[in-house]
Amino acid sequence: MATNQDDQFKKVISHAKEYGYVFQSSEIYDGLSAVYDYAQNGAELKKNIRDYWWRAMVQMHDNIVGIDAAIFMHPTTWKASGHVDAFNDPLIDNKDSKKRYRADVLIEDYCAKIEAKIEKEVKKAEKRFGDAFNKDEFISTNPRVVGYYEKIENILTRMGKSLEKEDLTDVKALIEELEIADPLTGSRNWTDVKQFNLMFGTKLGASAETAMDLYLRPETAQGIFVNFLNVQKTGRMKIPFGIAQTGKAFRNEIVARQFIFRMREFEQMEMQFFIKPGTQKEWFNHWKETRMKWHLSLGMGEDNYRFHDHEKLAHYADAATDIEFKFPFGFKELEGIHSRTDFDLKQHEEFSGKKLQYFDHEENASYTPYVLETSIGLDRMFLAVFSNALMEEELENNTTRTVLKLPAVLAPVKAAIFPLVKKDGLPEVAKQIVEDLKWDFNVFYDEKDAVGKRYRRQDANGTPFCITVDHDTLEDKTVTIRHRDTMEQKRVKIEDLKRIIKAEVDVKHWLQKM
Ligand code: GAP
Repeated sequence: MATNQDDQFKKVISHAKEYGYVFQSSEIYDGLSAVYDYAQNGAELKKNIRDYWWRAMVQMHDNIVGIDAAIFMHPTTWKASGHVDAFNDPLIDNKDSKKRYRADVLIEDYCAKIEAKIEKEVKKAEKRFGDAFNKDEFISTNPRVVGYYEKIENILTRMGKSLEKEDLTDVKALIEELEIADPLTGSRNWTDVKQFNLMFGTKLGASAETAMDLYLRPETAQGIFVNFLNVQKTGRMKIPFGIAQTGKAFRNEIVARQFIFRMREFEQMEMQFFIKPGTQKEWFNHWKETRMKWHLSLGMGEDNYRFHDHEKLAHYADAATDIEFKFPFGFKELEGIHSRTDFDLKQHEEFSGKKLQYFDHEENASYTPYVLETSIGLDRMFLAVFSNALMEEELENNTTRTVLKLPAVLAPVKAAIFPLVKKDGLPEVAKQIVEDLKWDFNVFYDEKDAVGKRYRRQDANGTPFCITVDHDTLEDKTVTIRHRDTMEQKRVKIEDLKRIIKAEVDVKHWLQKM
């Protein structure tokens, strides 16, 4: 990871703490590794992201409904889904540093370093050729770049094949051949690669003899599969239809670094779309396109997203792609889109002995539906939104400001209301505006410090609007409204405030861009 990326990421983490977005869990006891708490602003931002997803997926689709299944499930669920036997990560220990790593992540990080070299070559060439530069042509013809791409392709293909065959000896051999060292110490003294199951176990029941072994769910998807027929029948759903759900999932991640990117307790937003067998390719493309449009509707920059098709398919999938986002530490998975075939429903049929089929009146036949899944981590989306929004801006008067340019629809506080001074009846008018606006928006009242300082605080907090009440307000019932991104100030009537704010923060305004 380049130093400036490191610095930017450190700024993201410290800003998240300083402005009440994310705290380390149980910080007074020195924290708990890879577990985080969302603070007063973070909880609002997270709720707004969840809501933005739910509205797009459930409210805007008359054939998708939402459920909220329990975290605990019958333990056979996880036998049927394949998680007991196959939800493993290949781990490797460094004998000198005693640090544990995911073998595949070490290899992927090695490839990311080659990618960084490609980016460097492209930047150099861009400078050299100026306006005449054609990036596509350059990366497909420049021998050095082509060589780099081939190297990445060879490494990832070999790793994919070895993991698929469970050939862990070859995974270790690859690490040794590439001379990959412990990123912390530089040591190359590795143990063999072993498989490690990621599910957390717990017990249900009062006495040790009768207690039942349970797992904390490692994905929300299975709560949807086991309820497939209940929802289909009670909702009179016709294929194609979807079931959506948001909720906590738990994984005992071996390498849980990178702040809220990889956590042990996290939240997923998943949707299983039940379809007729044979139509999976069409729906795979449909959901790839639809989900990318959802991301782009937030205006976080087209160049920050890319698709990454899977080389190694999970045991349940016949096609899979990731939507990757450019995080401060490079492009990484943000959302997965998987064509899961009829694997899950068939497995649950077999293990439960209950039929999980759909009777298609048009076909006059029963079948086990195929499933197209979209699965996004809410915490990862939070990190994408937050890190992309945080910037230092040079101002015309040679000063800088820290501003959190969150999409207005997601911002925790939509408007901050200030009296210019703490006297002459201005606080009373400002508080009345708060009273009126709080029915529609999350708003904030602040009368401390000079108004310029209050603007800066709200910029850093991501609040799209600041409204200032001054002495003219008492005469003409107008206020100054200041826009976070442009810093432009306008004089408007108090009675127009709701309309002006709504025009920019309303979900409809944003989702219509899809
Ligand atoms: N039901 C399919 C499934 O769970 P996944 O690719 O393992 O697929 C889906 O996870 C999404 O959940 C990922 O794209 C990621 O955004 C999020 N996710 C997975 N593991 C995570 C973790 N340890 N911490 C935070 N988010 C995670």
